[in-house]
Amino acid sequence: MKKPTLVNHPPLVDVAPDNRPVVGPIYQTVKFEFDSVDEALRAQRGERSGFTYLRSSNPTVRQLELTLAQMQGREECVVCASGVGAIAQALLSLTRAGDHVLAFIESYGPTRQLLQRTLAKFGVTHTLLSIEDLTGVERVLNERPTRLILFESPTNPVNRIADIPALTRLARAHGALTVLDNTFAGVHQHAQFDIDLYLHSLTKFVSGHGDVMGGAAIGAAELIRRLRTDFTVLGGTLDPHAAYLLQRGLKTYFVRYRAQCESAQRIAEHLARHPAVERIHYPGLSSDPGHARARAQMSEFGAVVTFSLRDGGDAAARFTDALQFFSMAASIGATDSLVMPPQLLASRDLNEEQRRISAVGSGTVRLSIGLEACEELIADLDQALAASAASPG
Ligand SMILES: Cc1ncc(COP(=O)(O)O)c(C=O)c1O
Repeated sequence: MKKPTLVNHPPLVDVAPDNRPVVGPIYQTVKFEFDSVDEALRAQRGERSGFTYLRSSNPTVRQLELTLAQMQGREECVVCASGVGAIAQALLSLTRAGDHVLAFIESYGPTRQLLQRTLAKFGVTHTLLSIEDLTGVERVLNERPTRLILFESPTNPVNRIADIPALTRLARAHGALTVLDNTFAGVHQHAQFDIDLYLHSLTKFVSGHGDVMGGAAIGAAELIRRLRTDFTVLGGTLDPHAAYLLQRGLKTYFVRYRAQCESAQRIAEHLARHPAVERIHYPGLSSDPGHARARAQMSEFGAVVTFSLRDGGDAAARFTDALQFFSMAASIGATDSLVMPPQLLASRDLNEEQRRISAVGSGTVRLSIGLEACEELIADLDQALAASAASPG
């Protein structure tokens, strides 16, 4: 072999079956070849196992899917390049022109945008209600055939807790699918409910380190088989290196998630006692309206603490600017703490009444609690709250 040929056909290194790598290797390859046309055709017909092209699958990506399906307590999983990708591709796959979707005001903004802009272009309509409005849910389901109910619990950003048994019961009774964006709760929670499809942003707690994006859809084998066909041609493929990093993140997932939730609980209790804080949204607090439901539905209450400052937006901006250990950045769930001020949390697509329901006001701040020493986070919050009270002049 001449050298230009050699570098394109490098020597294969066999690893014997009794000499396995302890960490799954990164199959950083788009293509997989077969030794003969017959074998390639047998793989295409599903008569033998085998990988062909990364957009369909890849062993590194597949290992992550198999792990996530078990974490969420379901048969199957398909992953893709981001959490929004999972929501968009699932909605495009599950709906057709004329369908109606029930979704909620208290939800991640881009999810609503997908319904308002993208799905609307294809003739899919939707109704937005408050996640607390079960009477409204029942009324809408009685009034019009509904393809699916798409919701979060806890909701982003104010941690409302959905009544999951009631929603799934109503959905079943009316032939609607339930789709739960379970990102805030994590991939280990809510498996006990009659949910058809779990969606996740793996960018958050699964990655855990804020350095990789990913999304997942998890459910029964038949449903995921149908989704996979559409995901493959929609093309939002997860890269094998990203899959490897997400798989690595899962090794410390439980330790991180629990430690972050413990700090979030302490921080929420501390903030609840602070005179500058008007209202706090954390389901782990016994004063929270969703506490009893969260206790019944969840094992941990999450690492996001949202609260409102009595003195509104200017005070919240001063508070955010004064923080040392909380980076002002989008996302949640990483090992480093993050803050979002009301100026960046506000949703422009909501009308006045919907904004009231969303509970994101002029002083609302979202914190994502990381793994720093909790007492230092509390001291940082205290000094920033003191700074927020200072006259800007
Ligand atoms: C509840 C929820 N769903 C989905 C997403 C989107 O995830 P990604 O950023 O991975 O696209 C986010 C991101 O913040 C989120 O909070």
